[in-house]
Parts: sequence; C-alpha cells; structure tokens
Amino acid sequence: MLNCDQAGRLCREFTSLDEREIARIEEVSRQLQLIADLSGANVFVDCQMKGSTNAIVVAEASPSSGGTLYHEPYVGTVVYEQFEPSVFLSQRTGKSVLFNKAVTQRGIFVKQSVAPIKNDHGEVIGMLIKEEQDSESKVSQKMKSLSPATEMLWELFFFTDHDRPALSDIMKEHFILIDSSLRIVYANPSAKSFITEVFNFEDCEGRPAAHVLPFIEPVIQSKKDLVIEEVQVAGFFLEVKKVVIYKNDHVTGMLILIRDVTDLRMKERELVVKSVMIREIHHRVKNNLQTVASLLRLQIRKGVSEESKGYLTDSLNRVLSIASVYEIILSGDDGDNDQVDIVSLSNKIAAMLIQNHGSEHATLELKCEGESMFVDSKKAVSIALIVNELVQNAIKHAFHHRSSGTISVQFESRGDEVTLSVADDGTGMGKTAKRSLGLDIVKNLIEHDLSGEYYIGSSVEGTTVIVSFSLGKEG
Ligand SMILES: Nc1ncnc2c1ncn2[C@@H]1O[C@H](COP(=O)(O)OP(=O)(O)O)[C@@H](O)[C@H]1O
Ligand SMILES: [Mg+2]
Repeated sequence: MLNCDQAGRLCREFTSLDEREIARIEEVSRQLQLIADLSGANVFVDCQMKGSTNAIVVAEASPSSGGTLYHEPYVGTVVYEQFEPSVFLSQRTGKSVLFNKAVTQRGIFVKQSVAPIKNDHGEVIGMLIKEEQDSESKVSQKMKSLSPATEMLWELFFFTDHDRPALSDIMKEHFILIDSSLRIVYANPSAKSFITEVFNFEDCEGRPAAHVLPFIEPVIQSKKDLVIEEVQVAGFFLEVKKVVIYKNDHVTGMLILIRDVTDLRMKERELVVKSVMIREIHHRVKNNLQTVASLLRLQIRKGVSEESKGYLTDSLNRVLSIASVYEIILSGDDGDNDQVDIVSLSNKIAAMLIQNHGSEHATLELKCEGESMFVDSKKAVSIALIVNELVQNAIKHAFHHRSSGTISVQFESRGDEVTLSVADDGTGMGKTAKRSLGLDIVKNLIEHDLSGEYYIGSSVEGTTVIVSFSLGKEG
C-alpha cells in the first residue's frame, strides 16, 4: 500500500501523467513486492519527469529475504539518461531491454532488465526495472578486461608532451579532480584559465576546492554520489556535475565537471523576450483593428444615408472578422503561437454576425461543426473574411419574408484537404442575383490566397457554397 500511495504522489508532483495513467502506475507498484520476492531482485518503477529528459524513481521493492543491492532508498531520486541508457532506450522504443549490463548511478555493476509500462493507447508511461548484482567473478573479469583500457584512458586523458595534447587539454568542459581532503589535485587548462579569469587564482592546485570555487561547496558537501546542478555565478550559467570516486569502497576523491551553458541560457532568454514581443504585437494589431471598428461605428451612427450605412456595416464586419483572428490567437496559452483554429474562429464570426443582425428578418439558428483545424494567421485571415462574406450573405439575402432560418458552417478535412461549406435553407439566389464586391472578395481570397476552389449551389431550398483548399499549400 505504501508503495502505491507514494508512487501516486510522486507521479502527480513530478510527471505529466493523467489520473488514468497514474492509476496504471499504482497498479504496477502494488505488485512490486511480489515481483521482487519472486525474482529475488531489486525492482523499480521509473517515470519520465515533466519538462525534463530525466526520469524519477516512483516505487521500489527489494526481496523480503534480504540480499538487497542498495542500502539507501531509491524512491524519489532522479535517474539521469547518461547513466542508465537502457532505461531510456526502453522508454523511447517502447520495447523491453533484457539483461543489459549497467553501472548504476551509485557505481554498482548490475544486470538490468527493463520493460515499458504502457497506457491504454500503447504509449510508454513508465518503466519497470529489475536489477541484480553482476556476480563477483563477472565483475572482476570485467575489471580485468577494463584495466588495459583504463591505462590507455588514463594516458589519453592526462599524458601530455610537447607535441601531443592530452584529451583533458583540449576539453572545453572545466575538469577538476578533488582528493579526499577536498583539495584540488588537478585542473585541466580550460578549468585553470576559467579560475584565473573569474576568481583570480593563478595556481589553484593544492588549494581547498571550496576556497577557490565557493559556488561548488554545496555540490561537494552533498551526500549524493552523483550531482548535476546548475548555478549562476559572476554572470555565468554553469552546469556543475560531481561524481564521487571510490576505491575498494572508500571515497578517494571526486571529479567535478563544469560546463558553461551561458550562451544556451541567453538564447533561451532571448526566445522568451521574442515571444513576449510577438504577443505584444498581436495585442497592438487587435487593438488597432478595434479602433478602426469603433471609428466606423461612429461614422454609421452619425446619420449617414441608408445606402452608405450598408456599405459601412459591411466594412465594419470585415474589420471585426480580421480582429477575431487575433482575439483567438491571444486567448490561447501562448499568444506568440501563430496557429489559429479555424473552426472556433468561424464559429465566433458567424455568432457575432447573427447577434448583430438584429431582428430585421428571421430568427436565425447557427450550426457550426467540425473538429479543430489549425492554420497560420495569414490563412486564418483569409478564411475569416470568406466566412464573414458568406454568412453575411445568408443573413442579408436568404431569409426575406421568412420568420426563421438555419445557417450551417461545416468543416471537414481529409489529410491536408479541407472542405468548408456554408449553407442556408433560405430562398436561394434567384436568376437576377448579380455578383458584387462580397462574392468578388470570396473568389479572390479562395483562388489567390488559399490556392483553392469553390462552388455555389442554389435552389428554392437554399444556397450552399462549398470551398475547398489545402492546409499545406503556400498561398
Ligand atoms: N445566401 C444567399 N441567399 C440568397 N441570395 C444570395 C445569397 N448569397 C448571395 N446572394 C445574392 O448574390 C448577390 C451578390 O452577393 P455579394 O457579391 O455578396 O454582394 P452583396 O451581398 O453586397 O449584395 C446578392 O446581392 C444576392 O442577391
Ligand atoms: Mg455580400
């Protein structure tokens, strides 16, 4: 029970799983003890953390008979991709990974098996991991085969003469080795120049690490064997990694890797500033259009002729339709996103037109249907104007001498192809109807801006205009 409650709490706090998915994780966590007892191994459930590539351990169990690999609880700790790749491989591919040898974050050799936990749609929501200690002989065999490699690596890393730079010489990361008394025993050239430039220490080797680099003190003091933290110091954003080095179960020192991520963070900041600016620009466009609309309204009220009133109202509605595009963009969470749902846009415009038409003719009912369809704002403006003209025509011309009527706006899509139909059950266009500015605007927008086609069907039962265009095609 404890396992399951804790798993639910951790999932809610650190992951973006929904309640149904959390219930599935809890269900697996509830069986964890049984799995551990049956397999005689340590078992864990890991879930991906929200907004991160790392995972978090949400449940664990070790065999009741004892013989656990770990002495400290693992639940709640973060699992970093670079340390347990098979866990993340399984997460990405959705496939099980069996018996992969791994060195865990705590520096223990294990045999690791991973099976993905999936939701109802087959998407991976967590990983079930089984870990058994690699037997002693295997570990020592591995150490044996590793020892030539260790020597080579050691040379590659540190050996340097006048002609050949060592790897640590050319590394961009600052690389610092600290001994068990927490003094710096080695700093690569990149670390040395960083320390000299920023902290004014000409010779850092032999000095206490926390004295030379005060900001790494909490990292050094941390009880964890592996720490990855980001710190901000002297105008830099630094990613600090610490790995504790053991020899025969004793801590002999630690390795500190410092990466300068200032450029990255600055770029992220710039992006945030840009998105705020784009939102602000959308606001201004919307406000300016609304000002134009108010001016037109004023003009209409200032006693103009009935004929001019009609033309001005048409223009007013066109301006308001374009403004609706920006209102929709700004109503989303991210006002810098240039994507507009044309179904809700059309619904908004048609509803506005019907509401404004007053009760001159019939009482009108609106049906607007279709699943959300996103287009960029440029296309959305064209669609807004088309819907405005067609719905406006239905309101103005279709229901003379009628008491009620229905206007339907329907969107359908097949792949990239979209069909929009605006239909009314009014009088039909009649033989005398002559295309004027409204239908000219519609024709121009469809043919030029949307690279699409249209068809007008009209009978005594009403008028239907069908517009087809492609979402992808550049207008
Ligand atoms: N849904 C409709 N029902 C009946 N008649 C229509 C409809 N849509 C258009 N018409 C006819 O087509 C003509 C041309 O429309 P349009 O080019 O939009 O000009 P306007 O609306 O300014 O008259 C209208 O005057 C009208 O007679
Ligand atoms: Mg018209």
